[in-house]
Amino acid sequence: MSAPQDGHRRTGAGSQRRGNTLTVLMESSSRHFAHIFICMVGAVTILLVYLYPDWGFESRHTPAPASLAAPAWKDPGPYYVAYPGNYKFIMDDTPTCKTRTPFLLLVVPVAPGGVAARDTIRRTWGSEKLVLGQRVETLFILGLPSGADAKQQQEKLQLENLQHQDLIQSNFKDGYHNLTIKTMMTLEWLVARCDKLSYVMKIDADMLLHVQNLVKLLLDPSTAKQNYMTGLVWWHSPVLRNPFNKFYMPRYVIAEPEYPPYPLGMAYVMSLDLPAKILAAAPHIKPIFIEDAYLGMCLKHHGLSPTNAPENTMFMVDHRHPLSDCSLSRVIAATTTSIPQMTSYWERSRGAKC
Ligand SMILES: *[C@@H]1O[C@H](CO)[C@@H](O)[C@H](O)[C@H]1NC(C)=O
Repeated sequence: MSAPQDGHRRTGAGSQRRGNTLTVLMESSSRHFAHIFICMVGAVTILLVYLYPDWGFESRHTPAPASLAAPAWKDPGPYYVAYPGNYKFIMDDTPTCKTRTPFLLLVVPVAPGGVAARDTIRRTWGSEKLVLGQRVETLFILGLPSGADAKQQQEKLQLENLQHQDLIQSNFKDGYHNLTIKTMMTLEWLVARCDKLSYVMKIDADMLLHVQNLVKLLLDPSTAKQNYMTGLVWWHSPVLRNPFNKFYMPRYVIAEPEYPPYPLGMAYVMSLDLPAKILAAAPHIKPIFIEDAYLGMCLKHHGLSPTNAPENTMFMVDHRHPLSDCSLSRVIAATTTSIPQMTSYWERSRGAKC
């Protein structure tokens, strides 16, 4: 009620002031002066309209006419990634989920050049294909190589895939800042090709994974079969406001002081109903470059949240090395500092007792 009244009052005062000005002008000088003044105001207005045709219409955000159009791809700025983006899979011939459906799929995001890490995983935890009677498979997901030798890198990747048939490649540019795209493309791949799985784990290439402990957890009757996501869950992760921090987020991107709960990105597992739900939430939430926090935001959109792992010995991040046999016997996933350390931890973990 008060708003329109207020508006009226302001308009009234404005026209009164304009009236006063004109009266003063006409009294102090001739009508001639007023004419010149009005003409000048008119000319300047026409000039301004000519120079800035869409003033006041958010001109910076309206697309340029076709003839002047920049490349179709729009820079998402420093805090978002270019997703969705009509990306395709350009390498996608793995038999996984085509001719055989595992109980658990391990998906490892890797850089195109990370062949040493891939080979280590293929020799260690990635080689465990039948665990507690359940089929487990490992795939690597990557984007396009870049740089001067991109073409050679791509040829090497094709040979590598010919040998192992375990690479999934999409045509976005690979890079740390694009991790959110990689994760979302993983979910797209799962929804399109792999919906009969029970669980999927996303795990970084430098992690130790105790596959048997993971399968044991997933087979446990108290583990949910739906709306289930676990890992090392961060419950009150603050949105970082220090501009020098790698994960800085200004208030205009995220106004809330905390992210919704999410499992840390190095290793999390989810039931296979979640990929479609997360993808359905994605159009409502602009994708920030922090991929794990983004998943938390997508879960929250559905009123969902991740679950703590039953033991806090299961997901270990930045702990002290070396890990004891007792730790290795209880762990599901742990960060490591090098490929040799990961290999030796895996070997030790297989017979480790507490
Ligand atoms: C992320 O991917 C998009 C699409 O391929 C690309 O245009 C952009 O340069 C990439 N960003 C980085 C930081 O690599």
